[in-house]
Amino acid sequence: MISSEAEQAMAIDPQASSQNPLDPQDQADQAAQSDRSIPSTPPLPQATTVDGDFESPSPPDFVHIPVLSQEVIAGLELRSGGQYLDATVGGGGHSALILSSDPSIRLTALDQDWVALQAAQQRLSSFGDRVEFHHCNFADYDPGKRRFDGILADLGVSSAQFDWGDRGFSFRHDAPLDMRMNQHQTLTAADIVNTWDETELANLIYTYGEERLSRRIAHRIVEGRPLTTTGQLAEMIFHAVPRSYRYGRIHPATRTFQALRIAVNRELEVLETLLQKVPQWLNPGGKLAIISFHSLEDRIVKHALKESEYFRVITKKPIVPTETEIAQNLRARSAKLRIAERVDEMGRQ
Ligand SMILES: C[S@@+](CC[C@H](N)C(=O)[O-])C[C@H]1O[C@@H](n2cnc3c(N)ncnc32)[C@H](O)[C@@H]1O
Repeated sequence: MISSEAEQAMAIDPQASSQNPLDPQDQADQAAQSDRSIPSTPPLPQATTVDGDFESPSPPDFVHIPVLSQEVIAGLELRSGGQYLDATVGGGGHSALILSSDPSIRLTALDQDWVALQAAQQRLSSFGDRVEFHHCNFADYDPGKRRFDGILADLGVSSAQFDWGDRGFSFRHDAPLDMRMNQHQTLTAADIVNTWDETELANLIYTYGEERLSRRIAHRIVEGRPLTTTGQLAEMIFHAVPRSYRYGRIHPATRTFQALRIAVNRELEVLETLLQKVPQWLNPGGKLAIISFHSLEDRIVKHALKESEYFRVITKKPIVPTETEIAQNLRARSAKLRIAERVDEMGRQ
């Protein structure tokens, strides 16, 4: 069973059972889909890089509690005078902690979501020119000659993005089927839902949502086209699944929404690109900290770090939140933190 940030955001009854037996059609679905591939989405739009001030109205409230924050700060082993990169600044929670730890630390902050970046700029304004902001996908970032002493990537979507109803990340708000983190990109969830063929859709939902009822769901989506809002899609999925599946631990649309979001934002591809590039961005001895929220991401991070000649893995097992943190912030429940250290060309720290 997938444990994901989407589940955190959309769970309807965490106490209820999720043991819904599959009917024979669903078992056949599951077996048939185990080795299918999904079509690739179009190339990412060119990244926009912006330093300094942003000219737009105040961003909406950005409510997001940074997860595993003490563990991240300890794991990065912050150095006085160090240069750090927050590849996913979001609301700036982790960045604020990094900057507060020592007045000589400087930080570069990236986010592909313009609204999130504005929120971060506001939140971190008291640190003045110690912070530099770039609006870009981390996969497209080019640090030039700069090298960092530590890099953090806190993957996925923030609580705030789930809560901004108009962005279409959650079916808790009826909104256009969008799901783009970077609103300069053209591909939206509506494009996928309304144009992909049934098999491609089923494969997507199965692979990125780990949804065993993917074929039924894809069939119903195709029958019900065009779908333009999150509410319509959630309703369609609700009626596509057996009754026993409708009132489980999570809403039956949760995994399909996760799959669409991953595809729209090419989340796994950009993570792989980041992991390929990031060794060149770190000084020897520099630390890389990555927080993932579902098994698909964590698997990629785990293998990339283990197989890389440039890293010494510090966390043999991922660091997970304490019960206390989960009680205070349910979203932390599925977080996994992995940390590695950049070694030099000779394999030394
Ligand atoms: C989980 S939030 C980060 C929260 C942040 N650590 C904090 O303490 O507020 C993830 C952020 O990363 C951004 N993001 C996700 N994938 C990205 C990517 N490939 N490139 C740049 N930003 C990305 C999202 O827009 C979101 O704002």
